[in-house]
Amino acid sequence: MKKSDSNSSEIRNTFLNFFKKNNHEEVESSPLIPHNDPSILFTNSGMVQFKKWFTGEEKPLFDNVITIQKCLRAGGKHNDLENVGFTPRHHTFFEMLGNFSFGGYFKEEAISLAWNLLTKEFLLDKNKLIITVYKEDENSFKLWKKISGLSSDRIIKISTDDNFWSMGETGPCGPCSEIFYDNGSEVEGGLPGTKNQDGNRFVEIWNLVFMEYEKHGDALKNLPGKFVDTGMGLERISAVLSGKINNYDTDLFDYLFEKISLETNSKMNDDVLINYRIISDHLKSIVFMMSEGVLPSNEGRGYVLRRIIRRALLNVYKIKPNLIILNKLVDHVIEKYRGVYYELEKASLFIK
Ligand code: SER
Repeated sequence: MKKSDSNSSEIRNTFLNFFKKNNHEEVESSPLIPHNDPSILFTNSGMVQFKKWFTGEEKPLFDNVITIQKCLRAGGKHNDLENVGFTPRHHTFFEMLGNFSFGGYFKEEAISLAWNLLTKEFLLDKNKLIITVYKEDENSFKLWKKISGLSSDRIIKISTDDNFWSMGETGPCGPCSEIFYDNGSEVEGGLPGTKNQDGNRFVEIWNLVFMEYEKHGDALKNLPGKFVDTGMGLERISAVLSGKINNYDTDLFDYLFEKISLETNSKMNDDVLINYRIISDHLKSIVFMMSEGVLPSNEGRGYVLRRIIRRALLNVYKIKPNLIILNKLVDHVIEKYRGVYYELEKASLFIK
């Protein structure tokens, strides 16, 4: 895949084809509203629909699975709402590409699959990749060295919960290994684990979680097996493969900026850049939430939707007071995503 011709739909296809060739079954995205799971408001990652396969409450239908999962992080443990627009890579709505193993394979194959997709299919330069592992996970450290051939100083041991992923206050969890892309020394930011790690130089593109435990408050119990849960944000990998530092500079957003500019009769310059970004991000959340029947209200999911609509509206008003345009933008989001998420089109009138 050449950098210049990368766009989000090619990336989805390359990901799906690679894992299908490697014996994975594709499972459709589950809804944003998790079924039968009161522990979270919204699906915040690819593993949510498989929670009971991890805990052993349900028998997995397949050993190896891949999904492209629609996710929302705007409430609960994983909440990115306040950061949206101000950073290059936080979103309320995003898509997560993930492969999962329910006994088919564990660390070695998960690492090897991720490495091969990034370096042999996406053709990323291995010298631009940095790995983190959980400090106590010596095995992952050795496997990364063997599989990637990277030197030890590029495989960083992290002792914080940045490298111990959990779904929420309860649920499956385990040590994780993250893959970072180096945007180059001209970009401000330090290596993972340093005090400048939140800069934009090193961007996390893929998280490989080795699910071994189930969390109940502070207590951890063993899961019935050793499983794999990985997640790669489509918006981030799209930015990297398009040679961009900011997720908003990709095809997942540019079509909306064009329409916002038309509807507000404004130019997307530095004065309104953040407003454009917030509107586009929030609009996607609004469309996807409402396509599942969520309505604005004073509590729970409806309250999250109300806050998102209010913020989107406020950002339109900052460009042009009292302008009503969100409803006019809905169809553009649907057009962009309807080939992947079939539920959107039939909800168009309702959402508007
Ligand atoms: N569950 C992990 C995450 O959200 C990997 O998919 O990062």
